[in-house]
Amino acid sequence: MSSAARVNARRLIEGPSDKLMAVTPLKHKWAWEILEVMEQNTWFPHDVRLGNDKLFYQTRLTDQKKEAFDGALAFLSNLDGLQLHNITDNIVPHVTSPEVRMCLTRQAWEEAVHVKSYSTGIEEFSVDPMQVYTRFERDGVLAAKNAHVMRQSAILGESYSARNFTMALVANVALEGIYFYSGFLIFYILAKAGEMVQWSDMIRYIQRDEETHLRLFEHMLATQKEERPELFNAKFYDDALVLLDESCKLESNWGRHLIGKGILGYTPQMVDAYIKTLTNKRAKKIGLPELYPGVVNPVSWVETFSEVNDNKINFFEAKPAAYSVGALDWD
Ligand SMILES: [Fe+2]
Ligand SMILES: [Fe+2]
Repeated sequence: MSSAARVNARRLIEGPSDKLMAVTPLKHKWAWEILEVMEQNTWFPHDVRLGNDKLFYQTRLTDQKKEAFDGALAFLSNLDGLQLHNITDNIVPHVTSPEVRMCLTRQAWEEAVHVKSYSTGIEEFSVDPMQVYTRFERDGVLAAKNAHVMRQSAILGESYSARNFTMALVANVALEGIYFYSGFLIFYILAKAGEMVQWSDMIRYIQRDEETHLRLFEHMLATQKEERPELFNAKFYDDALVLLDESCKLESNWGRHLIGKGILGYTPQMVDAYIKTLTNKRAKKIGLPELYPGVVNPVSWVETFSEVNDNKINFFEAKPAAYSVGALDWD
């Protein structure tokens, strides 16, 4: 077989796979580009200092804010653990493109970094860390959310088909692009008011990674559409819409639960509108109509506030500022 024929035969799933990883020339070039962005975005949780926040948490953070902060930490630490397993156990085994496999493997490592980040925060701030990790045992809303995420990822683990794999990609768009954002919002609301500011730096690094993961799954979906167009029928789109709608409701419900009667002027209604605008964006990107037309983002400042600013944080002093931050134009 000629080299060109070998590369052309490559498929995201159900393609030839000799496990030799003769990766170049590339078939799925976008995966290589994402991998390079991931490499450029390398960071480590121990680089973020949390001493000031520890003092703030122990002496000045109100009980209501502590409850919201710990709740956000509890879910996020659970979610990254779930996602690490989901990637390695459910997604990677079915992928036959070597370059996409490399990307997903790197993603799994990043999820491990995130697990470590949340654990660093929980150990630093909490009097009893195990109470945060196991909050789902006492918090029904959190337990329901964890159970839903696990159910969603188990579908593929239990019954593989090309169709289920493709729907799992949609589920991962929801996971990477919707499920984190109530928790992130709580942290940014506090940091904007000067509370738990160092922690928000950690979250900015995590969010930048999650955004890359979202792009990875959006690209995988686009590739599936090219390679397996027969899977993208009306029923698939209907089911994808239902999946995103359920994910949005679940995340909004969780965010409203976290923010309670409101924190620093931010209300449960604002959380709901924010999560709906994010869901609209995700839907549009994968070729679906907006689920909630006319919803306006009430916290548009988050987009700028959540950007990594290496000049400000400056913990990789030797790294030129332009070296980091994604080199890809996603849109
Ligand atoms: Fe993560
Ligand atoms: Fe992720």
